[in-house]
Order: sequence, then structure tokens, then C-alpha cells
Amino acid sequence: MKRIALVTGANKGLGYETARQLALEGIKVLMASRNKERGLEAVQNLKDEGLDVEFVQLEVTSETEVDALFQHIDATYGKLDVLVNNAGIMHRGEPGGVNTAEIVKEEVLRETFDVNFFSLVSLTQKLLPLLKKSKSGRIINVSSILGSNTVQSDEASPWSGIKPFAYNASKSALNSFTVHLAAALKDSNIKVNSAHPGWVKTDLGGKNAPLEAPEGAKTSVSLASADFTGKFVHNGEEIAW
Ligand SMILES: NC(=O)c1ccc[n+]([C@@H]2O[C@H](COP(=O)([O-])OP(=O)(O)OC[C@H]3O[C@@H](n4cnc5c(N)ncnc54)[C@H](OP(=O)(O)O)[C@@H]3O)[C@@H](O)[C@H]2O)c1
Repeated sequence: MKRIALVTGANKGLGYETARQLALEGIKVLMASRNKERGLEAVQNLKDEGLDVEFVQLEVTSETEVDALFQHIDATYGKLDVLVNNAGIMHRGEPGGVNTAEIVKEEVLRETFDVNFFSLVSLTQKLLPLLKKSKSGRIINVSSILGSNTVQSDEASPWSGIKPFAYNASKSALNSFTVHLAAALKDSNIKVNSAHPGWVKTDLGGKNAPLEAPEGAKTSVSLASADFTGKFVHNGEEIAW
């Protein structure tokens, strides 16, 4: 049986490209989207390229939809080989300013953590029994260099000037999940890593980003066959936590 991958937030941006590149490697990709219409359109585009992809419905904050997705994958494939936790959000901040630690509203923190952290942990835990049935399970947590506390606390780093607190803190928490889950699963066949895609032109990354989505997706795609665990990686290079 083919390897089976699930990519969250796969209807556009990095998720769409990650799905495309995994499918090009011969993996069957379940492309999760919270919006059925946008998801089906994305799937059709890749099917038109001759790729083996399938639409699955997933609003990551919905326990009901997570449960339904688990049932579907279990009943149809009986396992999951690759989970790419890609769906994510970044609040732009109040008009004229970013959400710095000084002013960020609790509701912004909560909403950001709901999508980028809590839902991701719940989805991963729910799907773990299916990943354990894989001979080579891989979990890729799509993080950001903005979540690196080493980089954020280094004033010499160009990234340290970019401080939307809710987003950065949610990615730091996600990185912590990677470290802890990798340790918990160290005697299993599952490898868990965090990916920094680079700064990429997408709705989230904005139009000034230097990279296009196909370039940005490469790190997550390479981690689908990584032979290491518990690392934070960009383009084959380790990043400090
Ligand atoms: N672009 C960059 O420069 C960059 C850099 C570092 C890290 N990243 C990370 O890369 C990942 C993908 O970002 P992107 O740049 O491709 O952004 P994007 O183009 O805005 O795509 C985000 C995807 O996540 C989905 N999503 C958001 N909230 C969701 C929810 N509650 N349930 C289900 N799906 C949800 C979106 O669905 P809708 O279309 O329905 O909104 C969309 O499919 C994110 O985790 C981001 O933090 C991006």
C-alpha cells in the first residue's frame, strides 16, 4: 500500500505546495481544508496534474471534524504515514502596529494559540494510533524561525525585529511540543520535527517575501522522509530553538 499523508490547511499557500510535492513523490495525500469549496478546487487542480490526492474536511479547532477525519482514515487506510501540521494563522495586529507583548490582547493570544498550538496538539494525539501503525511515521510541525527564542533574543538577528507576540509565542510552544513528543516517541517508528519554510509569498507571508511556495514547501517535504527526530530544520540545516 502507498504511503498516506495528511496535510492540514492544504487548499492554498505552503500546504497546497507541500501536498503537490508529496504526491509527486508517490505518496497519497489527503488534503485537509476547512472550506469544502476551496478544498475541492485545490484537489481538482492537483488531480488535473495526474496526482493522487483526496479532499478531507478539517477545521482544526473542531473536535467533531477531527473525530470524523480519524474515523475516515482508520476505515479507509487503517494507518497514517505522514502528518504535516501546516494550518496556521498570524494576526496582523491593531491598525498601525503589531501585536507586541506590551499590547497584545488576550483574545488574539487565545485565538492564535487555539489554531497554531492547542488544535495541533489535539489532532496529533488523536491521529497517533494511526501513525503508530505506519512502518515509518513522520510528524512535521510547520513552525517559523520567529518562534526561535534564541533568534528572538539575539538583537543582531534580522528576525529579532519581527515580534508579533501571539504568533511567535505559539510557534515557540509548538517547538516545545516537537521536542517533547519526539522524546516520548523515541522508541517508536515515528519521527517528529519542526520545519521553518523560509519567508514565503503566501497570504500569510505577504507579497514582499523572497521565496515562492514551491521553494518554501521543500523543508516539510524533506522531513517526510527524515531519519532524525526532535530537530528544528530549514532546508536541511538545523535552527536553534
Ligand atoms: N509564509 C511564510 O512566510 C511562513 C513562514 C514561516 C512559517 N509559516 C507557516 O506555514 C504555515 C502555512 O502558512 P502559509 O504561509 O501557507 O499561509 P496561508 O497561505 O495563509 O495558508 C494557511 C492555511 O491554513 C488554513 N487554516 C487557517 N486556520 C485554519 C483552521 N482554523 N482550520 C483549518 N485550516 C486553517 C488556511 O485555510 P483558509 O484558506 O480557509 O483560510 C490555509 O489553508 C503556517 O503554519 C505558517 O505559520 C509561513
